[in-house]
Amino acid sequence: MGGRSKLSERRPLLPRVPVSDPAPRYPHARRFRAVVSTVLAVVLVFILAQLFLVPGPTYLPQSVATTFAEWVFGYEWSSENRTPLEELENVMLSTPDEEHAKAWTQYYTSGPHLAGKNLSQALYTKDRFEEFGIPAEIVTYEIYTNYPLSHRLALLKVCEDGSSGASVSDNDLELLFEASLTEPALEEDPTSGLDNRIPTFHGYSANGNVTSEYIWANYGTHRDYDDLLRKDVNITGKVVLCRYGKIFRGLKVKRAQELGAIGVLIYSDPGDDGDMTELNGHEAYPKGPARNRYSVQRGSVQFLSFAPGDPTTPGRPSLPGAPRDDPQRYIPSIPSLPISYDDALPLLKALNGQGLNASDLGGNWGTGGLYHEGVKYNVGPAPGIVVNMVNEVEYDIVPQWDVIARIEGYIKDETVLVGNHRDAWVAGGAGDPNSGSSALLEMARTFGKMLASGWKPARTIILASWDGEEYGLLGSTEWVEDNAHYLKKNALAYINVDMAARSHVLKTSANPLLNDVLHGATSKVPDPDSVAKGENKSIHDVWDKRIATIGSGSDYTAFQDFMGIPSLDMSFGGQDKNGPVYHYHSNYDSFHWMEKFGDPGFHYHTAMAKIWGLITLNLAENIIVPFNATAYAHALNSYLARIVSLLENGDQPGDEDPPHPMKFSHNHGHDHGHDHDHKKHLHHRLKHLNQTIQGLIHKATHFDKHAAYIRTELHRSDLPKWKKLLLILKARRVNQQYKNLDRAFLFHEGLDGRELFKHVVFAPGLWTGYSGDTFPGLVESVQDRNWTNAIRWSRIIEGSVHRAIAVLH
Ligand SMILES: *[C@@H]1O[C@H](CO)[C@@H](O)[C@H](O)[C@H]1NC(C)=O
Ligand SMILES: *[C@@H]1O[C@H](CO)[C@@H](O)[C@H](O)[C@H]1NC(C)=O
Ligand SMILES: *[C@@H]1O[C@H](CO)[C@@H](O)[C@H](O)[C@H]1NC(C)=O
Ligand SMILES: *[C@@H]1O[C@H](CO)[C@@H](O)[C@H](O)[C@H]1NC(C)=O
Ligand SMILES: *[C@@H]1O[C@H](CO)[C@@H](O)[C@H](O)[C@H]1NC(C)=O
Ligand SMILES: *[C@@H]1O[C@H](CO)[C@@H](O)[C@H](O)[C@H]1NC(C)=O
Ligand SMILES: *[C@@H]1O[C@H](CO)[C@@H](O)[C@H](O)[C@H]1NC(C)=O
Ligand SMILES: *[C@@H]1O[C@H](CO)[C@@H](O)[C@H](O)[C@H]1NC(C)=O
Repeated sequence: MGGRSKLSERRPLLPRVPVSDPAPRYPHARRFRAVVSTVLAVVLVFILAQLFLVPGPTYLPQSVATTFAEWVFGYEWSSENRTPLEELENVMLSTPDEEHAKAWTQYYTSGPHLAGKNLSQALYTKDRFEEFGIPAEIVTYEIYTNYPLSHRLALLKVCEDGSSGASVSDNDLELLFEASLTEPALEEDPTSGLDNRIPTFHGYSANGNVTSEYIWANYGTHRDYDDLLRKDVNITGKVVLCRYGKIFRGLKVKRAQELGAIGVLIYSDPGDDGDMTELNGHEAYPKGPARNRYSVQRGSVQFLSFAPGDPTTPGRPSLPGAPRDDPQRYIPSIPSLPISYDDALPLLKALNGQGLNASDLGGNWGTGGLYHEGVKYNVGPAPGIVVNMVNEVEYDIVPQWDVIARIEGYIKDETVLVGNHRDAWVAGGAGDPNSGSSALLEMARTFGKMLASGWKPARTIILASWDGEEYGLLGSTEWVEDNAHYLKKNALAYINVDMAARSHVLKTSANPLLNDVLHGATSKVPDPDSVAKGENKSIHDVWDKRIATIGSGSDYTAFQDFMGIPSLDMSFGGQDKNGPVYHYHSNYDSFHWMEKFGDPGFHYHTAMAKIWGLITLNLAENIIVPFNATAYAHALNSYLARIVSLLENGDQPGDEDPPHPMKFSHNHGHDHGHDHDHKKHLHHRLKHLNQTIQGLIHKATHFDKHAAYIRTELHRSDLPKWKKLLLILKARRVNQQYKNLDRAFLFHEGLDGRELFKHVVFAPGLWTGYSGDTFPGLVESVQDRNWTNAIRWSRIIEGSVHRAIAVLH
């Protein structure tokens, strides 16, 4: 379509010359060459003399020196005339403000903007970037997605005289309850009542009309289903009713489907809202901060940890005319519906006393919050009680619009990328994602101010406003696939903000290379709550300083996991004990909710714009890329320690990380001796891997010191020119090494069964989706007790650690 960019255009640096030069035919050509050679030699001697021999003031014109430096570094190496970073930081700390942040959010949240359904918001975003003086374009992809048509959920009783068995006809059924499947309009909350508001549904859900008995499956995690199987609960042919939480919703549906279920209903249980419940005396939204009982969490049920992006074009950009695959490998084939707890109540109550209860099933079960409403949390099924669920959606290939803005820097092959998605499940989306869109515009507005005063960043900055994130990271994944060549060569880091603010608690996940910049930026931004109390505390002071491993669930996935581009994700979205319940993917994630409960005053939106801006500035402006390779190497060490302890103690992975407990807890009796040998061999391999990682720690520590030394030296003002030039050559090399370090961990064949994921250190947990797995190939093999495969992975990982050491050499 129209504005598609091709960032990856390549121009040969030099014209091709024939391998063997034929003898010159004309004597004057030979004479000409001699003259040129002499002139070049004289110039070269002059330059060298200037740079290396003549101390003090030089006769070399500044422009020649600059051109030469730009050639080696793409940088004005005599950086005296550059605005110091501290000054830029001060602009970033003083420019973003609450009024603007509020106005941007108000705009984005005033009408529906489902993926591919709101071109005017893309145009608006492009116009704002351009207004700030940043060239921008709309990049279009054609993506396979679904939109809701109709739905139904009813609780029915099979009449005595009706046929008992699999097939029930309408005539035999008595209606007990008809679910509303809608979120009522609230007088206080204008966008909750828009005529064109988006119905409740699941992105990438399957069409279906099924009637069947149903069971309650707790959170629908892999482990929950395994608990049921162990107790001989028959899931085949049933509808599964489970609650949101713990893992990505699409994986609840995937596992149910694998076990033969024919439909899935997912509801939001107030038992997962912490202390902020009506039961504890809090009023519900819109009167108070507790959950509105009719709120519904929409969302995608794509198999995110297997393949994000357009499910018909895995690994390829969704350009017009692109060949399309059958998407069924990556999206469900059984229907699913998201429902409110109000709609779930009659279904849950109908199971009371039927089948197993929580105490039969162990620790993970039975902490639901609806006991006081009469729910006993039995598994069921209830004989003769069935649900009819209908999900009618329309699948289509539709244009979706990324907005890509670009601030050109001096250095041609080091690019910093930042991004936020624009699309939401609802008209609002004040938290997810448009608090982030607001922060993106505030950061861009600040860059605009700097550009107006003559600033040009050292490195190129690309700002992205993605479409289609909600369905499965569509806009970002397709763009990464489209620009893979450019990114591989140039990308330094990707900084993602999805939800900027819905609480006051900072939550982060990052590639450890980026730990330092995150600590640095948060130390410089004041914490709004502390400021209000008259205390002088930074965000860093009040932050728990936990940096999670980077998993999935937002647009950094393709950057980090496909391309080896160090990524960071952050949000004021941590759980605040006394904070309001967030109405995730609900109509009540609205401007009104945000202004009243989420971030009144928009202080945390503004703080996020500042943190994001400082991180971006530091990555783009520091002469030495501010990465910490030591932190990365130490992290690898701790990931390995985790696997060794898993192997030795056979301890179960955490509650939220339950990949294959069945296989894990049962020994496949038949090949014990063999098993033992393989396991011993694996131990040996892991020791070897450990030694290699120790080598990387050693190398990385030296490398970071070397980089820090060059940084310090470059800031000295008393250096002779030649020394400075040598330092710049060294700096250039160090930066390239930092840039290439994470690429060393890519394995081109990809992870087992999910070949798009190429990073051997980071991937979303196969059965969690959101949270990060480390050394996924190895961990999954160990959990499967597939020792030969674990040995294979330890070799692959060791190979990549060797490559990383070589990069730093
Ligand atoms: C797009 O969003 C704007 C508000 O940001 C809204 O006014 C407009 O109606 C939406 N367009 C469509 C087609 O829904
Ligand atoms: C669902 O199937 C039943 C039984 O086949 C049928 O009576 C009913 O009309 C169908 N519902 C819809 C919405 O198609
Ligand atoms: C489970 O239920 C299905 C469908 O009702 C039935 O075909 C199957 O035989 C049952 N499996 C067991 C082990 O009872
Ligand atoms: C759970 O069921 C068992 C029988 O399977 C029963 O003894 C127990 O009282 C039940 N517990 C609750 C809390 O209902
Ligand atoms: C706040 O603390 C910082 C150091 O943490 C200090 O530089 C600054 O002057 C203090 N500001 C006020 C108003 O006390
Ligand atoms: C880099 O990380 C290491 C290990 O986490 C830490 O000790 C060190 O202080 C960090 N370096 C800088 C410059 O912050
Ligand atoms: C790796 O080796 C180091 C140093 O030899 C040792 O301290 C550490 O415990 C080993 N780690 C594991 C997981 O074996
Ligand atoms: C173990 O992994 C290998 C791949 O390396 C695979 O071919 C084999 O089938 C797996 N074995 C089992 C028992 O799953």
